[in-house]
Amino acid sequence: MVGMSYVLINNEVVEREFAKIDIEDRGNQFGDGIYEVIRVYEGKCFALNEHMERLYECAEKINIHIPFSSSSLKEKLLHLLQKNEIQDGIIYLQVSRGVASRQHHFPQDEKSATLIAYTSEKTRPLEQIQNGASAKIVEDIRWLRCDIKSLNLLGSILAKQEAHAAGALEAIMHRDGTVTEGSSSNCFAVIDGVIYSHPVSNLILNGITRRYIVEICKEQNVPLKEQEFTLDALRKADEVFIASTTAEITPITQIDGVEVGNGLPGLVTKALQEHFEAKIQDAILNPIS
Ligand code: PDD
Repeated sequence: MVGMSYVLINNEVVEREFAKIDIEDRGNQFGDGIYEVIRVYEGKCFALNEHMERLYECAEKINIHIPFSSSSLKEKLLHLLQKNEIQDGIIYLQVSRGVASRQHHFPQDEKSATLIAYTSEKTRPLEQIQNGASAKIVEDIRWLRCDIKSLNLLGSILAKQEAHAAGALEAIMHRDGTVTEGSSSNCFAVIDGVIYSHPVSNLILNGITRRYIVEICKEQNVPLKEQEFTLDALRKADEVFIASTTAEITPITQIDGVEVGNGLPGLVTKALQEHFEAKIQDAILNPIS
């Protein structure tokens, strides 16, 4: 029998089938809100503090007031995780501007935000992490505040669908020939031993996995430049990989049907994967409580 699943709605943990969201919630009507996806390994959260920080930063950027402190929210999420007995999976969390009659501007009598969270089991994509995956180049048609982890994902969804229809795992996006990021990941190119990644700006999401990669490169003295690079450079790169909470570090071995380098996951990518694995194991051994 499948176990009961609980969800968090504001202050309450309720059985999923009894969870209700108002039809006029602004998250539902406008995508007026933000979200986070947090990885769970062996029942332990990975990078929970970093996800909490980004959530509160994004909320501030769009003037949503989260009605709990970061530490009490963390407690609620850990409680939910325990209740649902998740081993390998994710916590999905979103905060919308709450319920109001439909007007575009912020509601006057500002009711509090709506926060929901649920968990789901998800095994690690070990096959693609080991063997690599393919990508398709797609134009980046998203808005100019990609630094905000907004519920509005249409630009990303259309890009991902284009890649998916072409049999590729990810859409690597560009603006006027400059590579920005993947539709749900950050993108990296290795050229002559140097790792390139689009600088942190309004044009990309500053991914938590990306931050770990930057940290690993500093710790290991691996040259990494947070610098723009072109589609041309991407196509000629020795190695390409994407990074996200769920994809971890996934080598990209084919772009638009053409092999990247020798068509196999590269040495720089593999070395990063090993160091990232050590961070995961560390989080399992020293969990946040
Ligand atoms: N996606 N860039 C975009 C556009 C993303 O949507 C994501 C994450 C990332 C990587 O961020 P992080 O390392 O913090 O997961 C970069 C999540 C996982 C999603 O939408 O499912």
